[in-house]
Amino acid sequence: MQDYHSFLGEVLITEEELQKRVHELGTEISKDYEGKKILAVCILRGGVMFLTDLIRHVVPLIAVDFMGVSSYGAGSRQSDGEVRITLDLSTSIVNQHVLIVEDIIDSGNTLASVIEMLRTRNPASLEVCTLLNKFSRRKVNVPIKYCGFDIPDKFVFGYGLDMDEYYRNLPFIGVVDLEKYEVDA
Ligand code: PRP
Repeated sequence: MQDYHSFLGEVLITEEELQKRVHELGTEISKDYEGKKILAVCILRGGVMFLTDLIRHVVPLIAVDFMGVSSYGAGSRQSDGEVRITLDLSTSIVNQHVLIVEDIIDSGNTLASVIEMLRTRNPASLEVCTLLNKFSRRKVNVPIKYCGFDIPDKFVFGYGLDMDEYYRNLPFIGVVDLEKYEVDA
């Protein structure tokens, strides 16, 4: 695999900025859900790192569950509008305060489908928390209650976001210089 330094165009959000904002979001969520129990629904796989950092700053009781959703065609870097559920929740969300946790919202296709599906299961409430929002790429409107950062239309990786499944473990958000990135290097 390529060392990420060779295709890192710039660091868009540093580790310190990420941790500060994630802490702020956790505090805001804690206030809003005071006295309630939360069920965080993390959309795999990109949202995992954000989820695990976020819930450390949440005070109310919070349970977690995971949903696998595939929105990008194999080898493609664009959402094709087709959303496939690859792993469903293992718990019932009836009468639960559900908080969907995502790493990034791009076209909005993934989230729109997830919201539509979860609404039919009668949760007490359903809100969205995303770390990154690429609003300029939006095709479907989605209601976002909590947002970490609005970002420009750049290809980003790190802190949960992958390049061909790798580099999710980097603690910052970087911008890929696609001319320097070698697929399957
Ligand atoms: C990413 C991201 C969102 C979706 C956003 O997931 O985690 O789920 O794309 O794109 P959209 O708003 O255009 O639908 P991806 O399919 O890359 O899977 P991953 O999280 O497992 O990397």
